[in-house]
Amino acid sequence: MNEALIIPKEIRRIAKEKGYMIIAHNYQVSELQEIADIVGDSLQLAVHATKIKTEKILFLGVDFMAEMIKVLNAEKKIIVPERSASCPMAVSLSRDEIAEAKKNHEAPFVAYVNSTLETKAMADVVCTSANAVEVVSLLDDTTVLFGPDKNLASYVREKTGKNVIPIPGESGYCYVHDRVCLDEILRIKEQHPNALIMAHPEVPESIRGESDFVGSTSQMEEFPKRSNRDEFIVVTEIGMVERLKKAHPGRKFFAVESMICTDMKLNTVQNTFCAVSEERWEIAVSEELAKEARRAIDRMFDLMESARVEK
Ligand code: 13P
Ligand code: SF4
Repeated sequence: MNEALIIPKEIRRIAKEKGYMIIAHNYQVSELQEIADIVGDSLQLAVHATKIKTEKILFLGVDFMAEMIKVLNAEKKIIVPERSASCPMAVSLSRDEIAEAKKNHEAPFVAYVNSTLETKAMADVVCTSANAVEVVSLLDDTTVLFGPDKNLASYVREKTGKNVIPIPGESGYCYVHDRVCLDEILRIKEQHPNALIMAHPEVPESIRGESDFVGSTSQMEEFPKRSNRDEFIVVTEIGMVERLKKAHPGRKFFAVESMICTDMKLNTVQNTFCAVSEERWEIAVSEELAKEARRAIDRMFDLMESARVEK
C-alpha cells in the first residue's frame, strides 16, 4: 500500500466510527501523534488509562506500554499496529536475576515501567521515569533493588541518597539513550552555545552531569515554560523533538540525530490504518501475571496519592 495515499485523518475517522480511543507515546512519528486523542509519557499514559471511557483502545508505542494499559483496563480491547514493537531493555532482566537479587538483599524491588509483565509481577512497586525519584523517596527503606535501567538507577541514587542496587547491573540499559556520547552533545552545544541541554534520565551519568535539566519526556515538555531561553538541545529519542516544536512554537529544539528507537518507529501510518480497519492486533496478558503486576502498579499510584494528600 502506498503510504502517501493514506490520509492520517482517515485513521481518525475509522477509529471514531469503530469506537476506538487513540493513545500514543511521545516518541511516535508526528503524523501518528497528530491523530491521537492522548499523547504522553509512560506515567501520563498509565494515569489516562485508568480514566478511559471507550471500550476499545488503539495504542501506539511499544509492547510493555500496551500491556500496562491492558492490565489497567482488563475488560477493554487494546489493539496495536505492530506486534513486534518491543523494548529491548524491558526483556534484559530475567526472573532468575530478580530472585537471586532478592535472596541476597532484604530490600524492596522497584521495577521501572520499561519492563516485562513478569518483572512487574515480581516487584514491590512500579515506577516511571517521571516519578522514580519520588517513588523511591517515599519508601521507608534505605536500600532498594532497582531494574532494569542502570542509568535511571544511578540517577535515583544521586537524587535520593539511598542505596539503589541496579539489577541486572551493567547489561540493563536503553540502546538509544546509553550509546549517545558526551562529545556528540558538546558539538551540538558548540554550534548553539545559548541552548540549554535537556536529557532523559536513561542517559549515562556523564551526560546527566552536563545537562541543565533531567526529566521524563513530558517533564521535558513542561521545562521550556519555566525557562527564559529560546533554544534547547533534546537528549532523548528524536520523536520528542517534533512534540516540543508543536508545544512551543517560536522556540528552537535541536535533536541528537543518532537517537532513534527503531522499535517505536515500527508503527507507521500504513500499519496503523490496517490495525484500525481490521481491528487487529489485540493485546492479551496472562490473568495471573496481570493481577500481580496490578498490585505493584497500584502501589505506585497509592504512594503518589499519599504524597499529594500530605502536600
Ligand atoms: P518516558 O516515560 O519518559 O516517556 O520514557 C519512556 C521511554 O521509553 C524512554 O526511553
Ligand atoms: Fe525502550 Fe529505549 Fe525504545 Fe524507550 S527508547 S522504548 S527504553 S528501547
